Amino acid sequence: MISHVLPTYNRAPVAFERGEGSWAIATDGTRYLDLGAGIAVNVLGHANPDLVATLTGQAGRIWHVSNLYRIPEQERLADLLVENTFADTVFFTNSGTEAAELAIKMARKYWDSEGDPERVEILTFDGAFHGRSTGAIAAAGSEKMVKGFGPLMPGFRQLPFGDMAALHAAISDTTCAVMIEPIQGEGGIRTLADDDLREIRALCDKTGTLLILDEVQSGMGRTGRLFAHEFAGVAPDIMMVAKGIGGGFPLGAVLATEKAAAGMVAGTHGSTYGGNPLGCAVGSKVMEIVADPAFLAEVGRKAGLFRQKLEGLVAAHPNLFEAVRGQGLMLGLKCKIAPGDLVKAGYDQQILTVAAADNTLRLLPPLNISDEDISEAVVRLDRAASAVEQG
Ligand SMILES: Cc1ncc(COP(=O)(O)O)c(C=O)c1O
Repeated sequence: MISHVLPTYNRAPVAFERGEGSWAIATDGTRYLDLGAGIAVNVLGHANPDLVATLTGQAGRIWHVSNLYRIPEQERLADLLVENTFADTVFFTNSGTEAAELAIKMARKYWDSEGDPERVEILTFDGAFHGRSTGAIAAAGSEKMVKGFGPLMPGFRQLPFGDMAALHAAISDTTCAVMIEPIQGEGGIRTLADDDLREIRALCDKTGTLLILDEVQSGMGRTGRLFAHEFAGVAPDIMMVAKGIGGGFPLGAVLATEKAAAGMVAGTHGSTYGGNPLGCAVGSKVMEIVADPAFLAEVGRKAGLFRQKLEGLVAAHPNLFEAVRGQGLMLGLKCKIAPGDLVKAGYDQQILTVAAADNTLRLLPPLNISDEDISEAVVRLDRAASAVEQG
């Protein structure tokens, strides 16, 4: 008999009832060190006192009003995002998938408003993940995500990730947009080289193509910069944000330049819940904390410490691990086996990790994880690795 909850997830047999910083406490009282952070969501850990105070304070005032009215909390978060990024304007969503939908619509609408409505093709990349809506699966195009869900939305072409020759050959002055994650998360913590991102920007400029960056997983301080593309010193025209921006409250956003957003006039897009006062109040608090240069510098320092210890772990288990991947606290252990066994062995050592494609074990801790917890994490990963080696 089918379970009352639609069985679309492969769930581990553990449930959590509360959390404290980098620790998640299960219903049986077991404390797990959380290196998944709800898949890169809980950037400030569990039950962060500032976020709890902000959420409960806002909950006592007003939760929801509708975008029929001005929403001061939304305007404040938009101000913070615009002040701290390339963007001139922001639309709020409830998730990364909704951000992907709008990014696609915005790019196509731009060309429509430019009098070029046939300019619809969006170039995307293998290993990409932009969400599970019909548009987002068509964009990513992997067999696993699209099988049985056709007909797919047309107008996407997938290229090999990081293959600049393929991009040069595919892009033209009829390409609507290039849509790419600076660091693929689900795809296995695969990092686009800064030089490649600069080259993509230059190609887009040359052909007039819009550049859409999906920073749903890599954004909000995870790499040690507010957004990963900042390392390359170039900016997108449109950017998708979600996950960390709400610190655990469902929130997403599309950021754009005034030019790229030119087609999105009143009536072209909307959302009942997107930009609600609760989510935006929390989002502003997250931004206040995470966008602080001192906080970001600390992420960079902790990432250096973690990475160094992980290199030691890889060296200690050469039969299991190949390399450390990623940037900042968006880290991956490239494995010589499917990472599922390591995730399972991690449960026995009370540590939470996340599997990804390309045989990669993802480590996405809260950005404020302590040095002590980083050391503890590596001790537990070492034990989990030994357990897998011993079969
Ligand atoms: C890069 C990227 N884009 C989009 C999404 C979809 O976000 P959501 O699950 O919030 O809809 C994800 C989720 O994992 C993601 O990692």
